[in-house]
Amino acid sequence: MRGYLVAGNWKMNGSNAASAELVDGIIAGAPESELVELLVCPPFPYLSAVAERLRGSGVRLGAQNLSQHDSGAYTGEIAGSMLRDVGCEYVIVGHSERRALMRESSRIVAQKFQAALDCGLIPILCVGETLEQREAADTEGVIDEQLNAVLDLSGVEAFSNAVIAYEPVWAIGTGMTATPGQAQDVHRHIRASLEVIDASVAEGVKILYGGSVKGENAAGLFSNPDIDGGLIGGASLKSDDFLAIAEAAVAIC
Ligand code: PGA
Repeated sequence: MRGYLVAGNWKMNGSNAASAELVDGIIAGAPESELVELLVCPPFPYLSAVAERLRGSGVRLGAQNLSQHDSGAYTGEIAGSMLRDVGCEYVIVGHSERRALMRESSRIVAQKFQAALDCGLIPILCVGETLEQREAADTEGVIDEQLNAVLDLSGVEAFSNAVIAYEPVWAIGTGMTATPGQAQDVHRHIRASLEVIDASVAEGVKILYGGSVKGENAAGLFSNPDIDGGLIGGASLKSDDFLAIAEAAVAIC
Protein backbone atom coordinates (compact mmCIF):
# COMPACT_ATOMS: atom_id res chain seq x y z
CA MET A 1 0.00 0.00 0.00
CA ARG A 2 1.55 3.26 -1.16
CA GLY A 3 -0.57 5.51 1.04
CA TYR A 4 -1.47 9.10 0.18
CA LEU A 5 0.41 12.36 0.24
CA VAL A 6 -1.56 15.60 0.42
CA ALA A 7 0.84 18.46 -0.26
CA GLY A 8 0.15 22.18 -0.01
CA ASN A 9 2.02 24.42 -2.43
CA TRP A 10 1.58 27.86 -0.90
CA LYS A 11 3.32 29.53 -3.86
CA MET A 12 4.19 33.22 -3.28
CA ASN A 13 1.46 33.87 -0.74
CA GLY A 14 1.24 34.89 2.88
CA SER A 15 3.26 36.61 5.56
CA ASN A 16 4.95 35.58 8.78
CA ALA A 17 1.67 35.92 10.66
CA ALA A 18 -0.48 34.29 7.98
CA SER A 19 1.82 31.29 7.57
CA ALA A 20 1.87 30.75 11.35
CA GLU A 21 -1.91 30.85 11.50
CA LEU A 22 -2.27 28.54 8.51
CA VAL A 23 0.14 25.93 9.79
CA ASP A 24 -1.34 26.01 13.29
CA GLY A 25 -4.77 25.37 11.80
CA ILE A 26 -3.44 22.45 9.78
CA ILE A 27 -1.68 20.91 12.78
CA ALA A 28 -4.79 21.29 14.93
CA GLY A 29 -7.04 19.51 12.43
CA ALA A 30 -4.62 17.03 10.87
CA PRO A 31 -6.24 13.60 10.71
CA GLU A 32 -4.38 10.79 12.42
CA SER A 33 -3.67 8.26 9.75
CA GLU A 34 -0.62 6.14 9.04
CA LEU A 35 -1.57 6.10 5.38
CA VAL A 36 -2.09 9.80 4.74
CA GLU A 37 0.87 12.14 5.01
CA LEU A 38 0.40 15.90 5.01
CA LEU A 39 3.03 18.28 3.67
CA VAL A 40 3.25 22.06 3.54
CA CYS A 41 5.54 24.00 1.20
CA PRO A 42 5.72 27.65 2.35
CA PRO A 43 7.80 30.39 0.69
CA PHE A 44 11.51 30.30 1.62
CA PRO A 45 11.51 33.12 4.23
CA TYR A 46 8.93 31.31 6.37
CA LEU A 47 10.43 27.81 6.31
CA SER A 48 12.31 28.07 9.62
CA ALA A 49 9.39 29.54 11.52
CA VAL A 50 6.99 26.96 10.08
CA ALA A 51 9.50 24.19 10.91
CA GLU A 52 9.45 25.30 14.56
CA ARG A 53 5.67 25.12 14.71
CA LEU A 54 5.60 21.72 12.96
CA ARG A 55 7.96 20.14 15.47
CA GLY A 56 6.28 17.18 17.15
CA SER A 57 3.40 17.14 14.66
CA GLY A 58 3.24 14.57 11.88
CA VAL A 59 2.98 17.28 9.22
CA ARG A 60 6.02 17.46 6.92
CA LEU A 61 7.87 20.46 5.54
CA GLY A 62 8.95 21.09 1.96
CA ALA A 63 10.21 23.92 -0.24
CA GLN A 64 9.00 25.03 -3.64
CA ASN A 65 12.31 25.13 -5.49
CA LEU A 66 16.06 24.68 -5.04
CA SER A 67 19.23 25.46 -6.93
CA GLN A 68 20.86 22.79 -9.03
CA HIS A 69 24.20 23.91 -7.55
CA ASP A 70 25.67 22.88 -4.18
CA SER A 71 26.98 26.24 -2.95
CA GLY A 72 29.00 29.25 -4.04
CA ALA A 73 28.60 32.35 -6.16
CA TYR A 74 24.94 32.05 -7.15
CA THR A 75 23.40 35.22 -5.79
CA GLY A 76 19.81 34.79 -4.75
CA GLU A 77 19.80 31.00 -5.07
CA ILE A 78 19.03 28.45 -2.32
CA ALA A 79 20.87 25.14 -2.00
CA GLY A 80 19.24 21.85 -1.10
CA SER A 81 21.59 21.49 1.88
CA MET A 82 20.18 24.76 3.26
CA LEU A 83 16.66 23.40 2.92
CA ARG A 84 17.66 20.27 4.83
CA ASP A 85 19.33 22.47 7.40
CA VAL A 86 16.07 24.28 8.19
CA GLY A 87 14.03 21.08 8.39
CA CYS A 88 12.71 20.40 4.88
CA GLU A 89 12.20 16.82 3.83
CA TYR A 90 10.65 17.51 0.43
CA VAL A 91 11.16 19.96 -2.41
CA ILE A 92 9.01 20.65 -5.46
CA VAL A 93 10.94 20.66 -8.75
CA GLY A 94 9.79 21.60 -12.22
CA HIS A 95 6.50 23.23 -11.32
CA SER A 96 4.93 24.46 -14.55
CA GLU A 97 5.06 28.06 -13.32
CA ARG A 98 8.84 27.76 -13.07
CA ARG A 99 9.13 25.93 -16.38
CA ALA A 100 7.09 28.66 -18.09
CA LEU A 101 7.94 31.87 -16.21
CA MET A 102 11.55 31.15 -15.19
CA ARG A 103 12.33 29.24 -18.39
CA GLU A 104 13.43 26.11 -16.54
CA SER A 105 14.18 23.45 -19.14
CA SER A 106 13.64 19.76 -18.53
CA ARG A 107 17.42 19.43 -18.26
CA ILE A 108 17.65 22.03 -15.49
CA VAL A 109 14.68 20.42 -13.74
CA ALA A 110 16.51 17.08 -13.93
CA GLN A 111 19.62 18.66 -12.42
CA LYS A 112 17.52 20.10 -9.59
CA PHE A 113 15.90 16.70 -9.03
CA GLN A 114 19.36 15.12 -8.69
CA ALA A 115 20.59 17.97 -6.46
CA ALA A 116 17.65 17.32 -4.14
CA LEU A 117 18.45 13.61 -3.91
CA ASP A 118 22.12 14.36 -3.31
CA CYS A 119 21.31 16.19 -0.11
CA GLY A 120 18.66 13.79 1.14
CA LEU A 121 15.56 15.70 0.06
CA ILE A 122 12.62 13.93 -1.58
CA PRO A 123 11.95 15.70 -4.88
CA ILE A 124 8.38 16.11 -6.08
CA LEU A 125 8.78 16.19 -9.85
CA CYS A 126 5.98 18.11 -11.58
CA VAL A 127 5.03 17.18 -15.12
CA GLY A 128 2.10 18.27 -17.24
CA GLU A 129 0.89 19.51 -20.59
CA THR A 130 -0.65 22.80 -21.69
CA LEU A 131 -4.15 22.96 -23.17
CA GLU A 132 -2.65 23.46 -26.62
CA GLN A 133 -0.54 20.32 -26.22
CA ARG A 134 -3.53 18.31 -24.99
CA GLU A 135 -5.65 19.48 -27.91
CA ALA A 136 -2.85 18.45 -30.28
CA ALA A 137 -2.98 14.96 -28.66
CA ASP A 138 0.56 15.48 -27.40
CA THR A 139 -0.05 14.93 -23.67
CA GLU A 140 1.92 11.70 -23.46
CA GLY A 141 4.73 13.07 -25.62
CA VAL A 142 5.16 16.06 -23.30
CA ILE A 143 5.08 13.93 -20.16
CA ASP A 144 7.57 11.48 -21.69
CA GLU A 145 10.01 14.27 -22.50
CA GLN A 146 9.79 15.70 -18.97
CA LEU A 147 10.11 12.28 -17.33
CA ASN A 148 12.87 11.02 -19.62
CA ALA A 149 15.09 14.00 -18.85
CA VAL A 150 15.11 12.83 -15.22
CA LEU A 151 15.41 9.13 -16.07
CA ASP A 152 18.39 9.87 -18.33
CA LEU A 153 20.23 11.81 -15.65
CA SER A 154 19.28 9.96 -12.46
CA GLY A 155 18.01 6.53 -13.56
CA VAL A 156 14.82 4.78 -12.53
CA GLU A 157 16.14 3.87 -9.06
CA ALA A 158 15.96 7.56 -8.16
CA PHE A 159 12.19 7.26 -8.13
CA SER A 160 12.30 5.04 -5.07
CA ASN A 161 13.06 8.27 -3.17
CA ALA A 162 10.90 10.65 -5.15
CA VAL A 163 7.32 11.67 -5.84
CA ILE A 164 5.79 12.62 -9.19
CA ALA A 165 3.01 15.19 -9.55
CA TYR A 166 0.91 15.25 -12.70
CA GLU A 167 -0.32 18.81 -13.07
CA PRO A 168 -2.04 19.65 -16.34
CA VAL A 169 -1.15 23.31 -16.86
CA TRP A 170 -4.69 24.12 -18.03
CA ALA A 171 -6.08 22.96 -14.67
CA ILE A 172 -3.77 24.98 -12.41
CA GLY A 173 -5.52 27.83 -10.68
CA THR A 174 -8.23 27.85 -13.34
CA GLY A 175 -10.98 25.97 -11.52
CA MET A 176 -10.90 23.50 -14.44
CA THR A 177 -10.01 20.13 -12.94
CA ALA A 178 -9.07 17.16 -15.07
CA THR A 179 -11.83 14.58 -14.79
CA PRO A 180 -10.88 11.58 -12.65
CA GLY A 181 -10.72 9.55 -15.87
CA GLN A 182 -8.41 12.02 -17.64
CA ALA A 183 -6.12 12.16 -14.61
CA GLN A 184 -6.08 8.39 -14.10
CA ASP A 185 -5.17 7.84 -17.78
CA VAL A 186 -2.09 10.03 -17.49
CA HIS A 187 -1.13 8.62 -14.07
CA ARG A 188 -1.37 5.10 -15.55
CA HIS A 189 0.80 6.20 -18.46
CA ILE A 190 3.44 7.59 -16.08
CA ARG A 191 3.48 4.46 -13.93
CA ALA A 192 3.55 2.20 -17.00
CA SER A 193 6.53 4.15 -18.36
CA LEU A 194 8.46 3.34 -15.18
CA GLU A 195 7.09 -0.21 -15.04
CA VAL A 196 8.79 -1.24 -18.25
CA ILE A 197 12.14 -0.31 -16.69
CA ASP A 198 11.57 -1.39 -13.07
CA ALA A 199 8.26 -2.81 -11.90
CA SER A 200 8.94 -2.50 -8.20
CA VAL A 201 9.99 1.16 -8.40
CA ALA A 202 6.87 1.85 -10.49
CA GLU A 203 4.67 0.12 -7.94
CA GLY A 204 6.14 2.09 -5.03
CA VAL A 205 6.27 5.63 -6.41
CA LYS A 206 3.54 8.05 -5.35
CA ILE A 207 1.96 9.97 -8.23
CA LEU A 208 0.00 13.03 -7.09
CA TYR A 209 -2.57 14.93 -9.11
CA GLY A 210 -2.52 18.73 -9.07
CA GLY A 211 -4.81 21.30 -10.64
CA SER A 212 -7.80 22.85 -8.89
CA VAL A 213 -8.15 20.05 -6.34
CA LYS A 214 -10.75 20.91 -3.69
CA GLY A 215 -12.61 19.13 -0.92
CA GLU A 216 -15.47 18.47 -3.32
CA ASN A 217 -13.49 16.78 -6.10
CA ALA A 218 -10.70 15.13 -4.10
CA ALA A 219 -12.47 11.83 -3.39
CA GLY A 220 -13.33 11.29 -7.06
CA LEU A 221 -9.69 11.82 -8.03
CA PHE A 222 -8.05 9.95 -5.15
CA SER A 223 -10.19 6.83 -5.54
CA ASN A 224 -8.40 5.96 -8.81
CA PRO A 225 -5.80 3.21 -8.59
CA ASP A 226 -2.84 5.30 -9.79
CA ILE A 227 -3.63 8.56 -7.97
CA ASP A 228 -1.85 8.72 -4.63
CA GLY A 229 -2.80 12.16 -3.38
CA GLY A 230 -2.66 15.75 -4.49
CA LEU A 231 -0.46 18.80 -4.90
CA ILE A 232 -2.75 21.59 -3.84
CA GLY A 233 -2.34 25.27 -4.64
CA GLY A 234 -5.29 27.58 -3.96
CA ALA A 235 -7.08 25.23 -1.58
CA SER A 236 -3.94 24.83 0.55
CA LEU A 237 -4.12 28.45 1.72
CA LYS A 238 -7.03 27.90 4.11
CA SER A 239 -6.59 25.19 6.70
CA ASP A 240 -10.23 24.05 6.47
CA ASP A 241 -10.03 23.65 2.70
CA PHE A 242 -6.75 21.79 2.90
CA LEU A 243 -7.98 19.54 5.71
CA ALA A 244 -11.13 18.68 3.75
CA ILE A 245 -8.86 17.29 1.02
CA ALA A 246 -6.85 15.34 3.60
CA GLU A 247 -10.09 13.91 5.01
CA ALA A 248 -11.11 12.76 1.53
CA ALA A 249 -7.86 10.75 1.35
CA VAL A 250 -8.38 9.31 4.82
CA ALA A 251 -11.92 8.23 3.91
CA ILE A 252 -10.61 6.19 0.98
CA CYS A 253 -7.93 4.32 2.94
P1 PGA B 1 -4.16 24.92 -7.85
O1 PGA B 1 -2.55 24.79 -8.01
O2 PGA B 1 -4.57 23.86 -6.84
O3 PGA B 1 -4.37 26.31 -7.36
O4 PGA B 1 -4.74 24.66 -9.19
C1 PGA B 1 -1.90 23.55 -8.01
C2 PGA B 1 -0.43 23.75 -8.20
O5 PGA B 1 -0.01 24.64 -8.95
O6 PGA B 1 0.40 23.01 -7.60
